[in-house]
Amino acid sequence: MSNLSLAKDKIKILLLEGIHQNAVDSFKAHGYNNVELLPGALDGDELKAKIADAHMVGIRSRTKLTADILEAADKLMAIGCFCIGTNQVDLSAARDKGVPVFNAPYSNTRSVAELVIAEIIMLARGVPHKNTLAHAGGWLKSAEGSYEVRGKILGVIGYGHIGSQVSVLAESLGMKVRYFDIIDKLPLGNAAPCDTMEELLEISDFVSLHVPATPQTNNMFRREHIFAMKPGALLINLARGNVVDINALVEALDNGHLSGAGIDVFPQEPASKNEEFTSPLRGQPNVILTPHVGGSTQEAQANIGNEVTSKLVRYSDNGSTLGTVNFVEVSLPVQDGVTRFLHIHRNVPGVLSSINEVFSERGLNIAGQYLMTDGEVGYVVVDVSGDLEAGMGVRKGLAGIEGTIRTRFLA
Ligand code: NAI
Repeated sequence: MSNLSLAKDKIKILLLEGIHQNAVDSFKAHGYNNVELLPGALDGDELKAKIADAHMVGIRSRTKLTADILEAADKLMAIGCFCIGTNQVDLSAARDKGVPVFNAPYSNTRSVAELVIAEIIMLARGVPHKNTLAHAGGWLKSAEGSYEVRGKILGVIGYGHIGSQVSVLAESLGMKVRYFDIIDKLPLGNAAPCDTMEELLEISDFVSLHVPATPQTNNMFRREHIFAMKPGALLINLARGNVVDINALVEALDNGHLSGAGIDVFPQEPASKNEEFTSPLRGQPNVILTPHVGGSTQEAQANIGNEVTSKLVRYSDNGSTLGTVNFVEVSLPVQDGVTRFLHIHRNVPGVLSSINEVFSERGLNIAGQYLMTDGEVGYVVVDVSGDLEAGMGVRKGLAGIEGTIRTRFLA
């Protein structure tokens, strides 16, 4: 790194909420040693004071990065949400400041897939009911209603990161996998797609939902779908709480149409452990209820630490915004023998030609240029060949262009 760009040790990284040590180690491994890790969340003036000189900030779900807080974050260039959700950040306020936000949407997918498999076996053997009885002194020693999963059909709805991993694990147990997805997905192993969800419901002994939260999946698994499942089948939902009609599920369990269910996500979930969990599913004998912990494992936390850190490091090192949730996405090649200028601006006409003028006025040779815009923000990356003596005032020239939000350069 030349003296033109901010030395890595000057880049201050603030990590809150006890983010996994992996994140700190990973920053350090990439040469970023100026890392402060705090165990809890901050808010109000305390957060403003801390964030004022941070170049990157890492949070989980409890730190609220509102427009007001971001106002105080003058040096901030990127935000890492070391979790799945990003609604604790005012994403458009961050974008307007030229600050991309990154998260870790897929680091915990294996954890979810493992729990699904565990629940399939437990439910097929009626373990939840037998377990409850045994804790109360009962002894339901019977093979009735207990089955092996080998040879049974698992129907996976939503064959994405989790659904496809469930498919692979289920096949290793000897299950047959059919899946339904709204887009064409390459089958893994011997899994086979179904043309319709109805076709899948008709043949599956187990149905496991792995769809994302979209307007289309809201209440998508209704009474008619539940009752279209095979008599005695089992339903698993570790996806989103508003996907399944819970009252219809209770009806199907009460009248024996379904023989059990595993549910990890609910239309209403307690905000904290101090709040009571209420659900019409409470007390159902062969139903596993878990408090939205499908993805909650130590391994997932460690993976999240690595995933978000590597996105932040990539953005800091070479300007790539791949994986951002609020910004234009650009995947850039590693710069080789070039000085790279990054220019973030409001998406108004004429900015690109003004940028090019800054370089042509100085007789500089542009080796590569990348431009991406969305409705609000434009992001231009310009690679210039050779060393620029004292920067040649390029950055000042770029900063003077009307509509500029932020400039940075990497040498
Ligand atoms: P993904 O985005 O990789 O896969 C979702 C798949 O569903 C995609 O292939 C998509 O085409 C498909 N899909 C979308 N709409 C559909 C529809 N109407 N019908 C059929 N297929 C549809 O997502 P990923 O990572 O597999 O996550 C799946 C779900 O698991 C998400 O809802 C996520 O929130 C949830 N999740 C739950 C966790 C927990 O702790 N219980 C942890 C992690 C994820």
